[in-house]
Amino acid sequence: MIVPAKVLFEHAYGNYALGAYNINNAEQTMGLFRGCIASSAPFIIQISKGARKYTDKRMLEGIIRSAEEIFPDAVFAVHLDHGDEETAHDCIESGFYSSVMIDASHEPFKENAAITRRVADHAHSKGISVEAELGQLGGVEEDIKVDEKNVCLTDPNEAKEFIAASGADSLACAIGTSHGAYKFSGGQGLHFDRITAIQAAIPGVPLVMHGSSSVPQDEVARINAAGGQLKEGAKGVDPEQYLPAAKLGVCKVNIDTDGRLVWTRVHREFFKDKPAEFDFRPVGKVFMDEYALFIASRNKYLGSAGTLDAVRAHAKKVLGL
Ligand code: G3H
Ligand code: 13P
Ligand code: ZN
Repeated sequence: MIVPAKVLFEHAYGNYALGAYNINNAEQTMGLFRGCIASSAPFIIQISKGARKYTDKRMLEGIIRSAEEIFPDAVFAVHLDHGDEETAHDCIESGFYSSVMIDASHEPFKENAAITRRVADHAHSKGISVEAELGQLGGVEEDIKVDEKNVCLTDPNEAKEFIAASGADSLACAIGTSHGAYKFSGGQGLHFDRITAIQAAIPGVPLVMHGSSSVPQDEVARINAAGGQLKEGAKGVDPEQYLPAAKLGVCKVNIDTDGRLVWTRVHREFFKDKPAEFDFRPVGKVFMDEYALFIASRNKYLGSAGTLDAVRAHAKKVLGL
């Protein structure tokens, strides 16, 4: 059942966080749904601009609609990840998305707020919610790269002004995370004091944590042992920090890179062990199983595992179903 993001947020707020997982194809989608059903968790499917272009935006919509039929117990929202203004308007018009992200965080404050306001006015007229971003995370997303030294944590006072000016429903903040597999070296962790201060400035507004992959070092080591050449030693978010962050108002935790590492490890190991294999289905099956296990493990850290029945009851009540 696809539900408005708002319905998921109001149930999660202050208690647990929803895993927001990027998908690009059918295998990822199957693993995601299986993992969420196995762990009894609601979730958010995220579609990036790159994912929409990878095959065709209608292909992903078709895959998700089919998954909704195959897994009638699933409760989830469909979200545009890191949208620009044109893509956000397109997704709002499509009638398929529960929420959109407008990411104008690279623009000056006023421009970011003005762009977000235009998207929010359009989205709200259709009952869709809007995630905006304020501050600069590190790492690479789409074609934008931010170096470690240029990361700029979200200012709580600016967050208050931004929410009032932009009309955004949830806020992606820079709180110590970074996108991609090459995250911070050394002892970087979440800035809990900053999360507390931001939430105090905008009480009730769900916060979103991007760049939340943990980049497990054993996963990187297995990939490299099977022929990969990933840089070792990059540090992601300790998954044990997801739930404490959720208790402070972080409602949505974006995880993409860790799933790509599962894909890479499965495929490298499979073809290293079976060099004569050329059918993509046997390895695809292993990937779906491994991805489902990964998703279920993340949902446990997030605290969303085990909440599915309560969330469905809440959604049915507020949606009058
Ligand atoms: O933050 C970006 C997400 O990981 C999506 O990545 O734009 O390569 O699909 P993508
Ligand atoms: P990771 O690169 O840490 O998985 O972050 C994903 C993300 O923020 C998607 O918006
Ligand atoms: Zn992101």
